[in-house]
Amino acid sequence: MTKVLAVMASPKPEHLSLSTRICQSFLDQYQSQNPQDTVWQLALHKTNLPLINQDTIDFFEAQTPAKTGEQSAIDALCQQFITVDKYIFAFPNWNLLCPADLVTYLLCVVRAGKAFSYTPQGVVGLLQNKKALLIISSGGYCTDHPYAIPCFGIDWLQRLLALCGITDISLMIAQGGEQLPDQAEQIEEKSLGEAHDLATVW
Ligand SMILES: Cc1cc2nc3c(=O)[nH]c(=O)nc-3n(C[C@H](O)[C@H](O)[C@H](O)COP(=O)(O)O)c2cc1C
Repeated sequence: MTKVLAVMASPKPEHLSLSTRICQSFLDQYQSQNPQDTVWQLALHKTNLPLINQDTIDFFEAQTPAKTGEQSAIDALCQQFITVDKYIFAFPNWNLLCPADLVTYLLCVVRAGKAFSYTPQGVVGLLQNKKALLIISSGGYCTDHPYAIPCFGIDWLQRLLALCGITDISLMIAQGGEQLPDQAEQIEEKSLGEAHDLATVW
């Protein structure tokens, strides 16, 4: 049975968050096409994410069983992350990157010995034969536009997933709605249509 994990990083409620609306629309269609799949939704702003401090680093490096509630929570997130077959990351472009919660989450789950291994020949991804979809909402254009300013979060996340062995990555970018407010509605409609179409075949 295929397991799907949808990680949503906008702290806004769904009706106000473009990335979450597109993600939900994608999931509705995906679930109707694939009723046998298990879909987990993780809204990061509702998840108790630990800050990475010296204790966390010691825990990661020791690779010993969790001793505290926080360490167990980190392990549970990591276990879920390495178990699933398909990933959806829905996040807004914030300061050319993404919300800090997404960075914190990935620091908890992309761990040496679990998601990738260091070898003398370089890093080897341990999450092979999986696929991912990135859904990004960006107020301004961040690609394919003469005035685009890149969202480095997109490139960063693609590279981080590739390091884990996940190279089958689709992108959906809903962009420009705040740069061209009179076109915001059309931009959202177009993205929702793309989400529906992709969910049918993904
Ligand atoms: C803290 C913050 C930082 C932002 N930084 C950028 C930015 O660097 N570039 C950009 O084009 N839009 C930026 N925006 C606008 C968001 O990308 C845009 O509102 C997006 O649609 C939000 O997605 P959401 O509705 O899913 O939260 C920023 C918004 C916020 C709140």
